[in-house]
Amino acid sequence: MDYGELLSEAMEAARPVLGRGAPADYIPALACADPADFGMALATVDGEVHGVGEWRKAFSIQSVSKLFALALALSHGGTTLWQRVGREPSGNPFNSLIQLESEHGIPRNPFINAGALVVTDALLSLTGDARGAVVDFLRAESGNMSIDTDHAIAASEAGHGHRNAALAHFMASFGNLHNEVEEVLEHYFAQCSISADCRDLALAGSFLARHGLRADGSRLLGRGDAKRINAVLLTCGTYDAAGEFAYRVGLPGKSGVGGGILAIVPGRGAICAWSPGLDAVGNSVGAMAALEDFTSRSDWSVF
Ligand code: DON
Repeated sequence: MDYGELLSEAMEAARPVLGRGAPADYIPALACADPADFGMALATVDGEVHGVGEWRKAFSIQSVSKLFALALALSHGGTTLWQRVGREPSGNPFNSLIQLESEHGIPRNPFINAGALVVTDALLSLTGDARGAVVDFLRAESGNMSIDTDHAIAASEAGHGHRNAALAHFMASFGNLHNEVEEVLEHYFAQCSISADCRDLALAGSFLARHGLRADGSRLLGRGDAKRINAVLLTCGTYDAAGEFAYRVGLPGKSGVGGGILAIVPGRGAICAWSPGLDAVGNSVGAMAALEDFTSRSDWSVF
């Protein structure tokens, strides 16, 4: 299969919509991104990498980090995690507070903000450094030691993070955060503000295509946990548009408001597409279009 050609065609298919949508502006440091920027990379399970466009340009990974935080928490033995966070789509915006009250401080799933705060809290308890655990993993899997938190973006998030603070305090009132709220928020903002490029994320996501095996062949997760994470990515990874993403792209995937989407093809590899212009629910317009084209024309599909 000529992956280079498939990626180029996916970029061409996305071109008419590049520049549509708008970068996230509720985090002011993200607002200056160019909505027409675009990059895409794939990594096979054997570590072969291909890319098009600005695939080596680092961007803010934002909620794509939630996938790695969950995998790491489970790998460190976070066996009680599923008592603290559910695995149902929320059908609500990623930063919504409304279900938490009636559901006793248990977030619907680990990929909305409330659920990710619980996961970061668990990872902090298990490792002592949730942000560091995510950075170390991304560096190891990609071989890119320059991956790090962008502290200007983290500060911008923290300065405008009233909703996340509200979610965290509310869950703490139900006893569903075990560390200090301020510390959990600091790690969460720093984890979301990691900068990495399409190549880095495709390589780092490949453990889910290898059924839990890391790039060096060691096991991060059992096959069962890798299968479960892929399943929850498919149903909950793209916020209240998970149904639309499943319909158009048909892969487990995680989006972030930096414009990145990381999608997994079990047994084949991982694909990361990025373009900062977001639709109304916060998913990248260009990345969705490119992934839809790629999965429609290649045999990289779970359906
Ligand atoms: O907490 C936030 O709002 C951002 N750091 C991440 C949001 C995002 O990418 C969408 N999340 N599910």
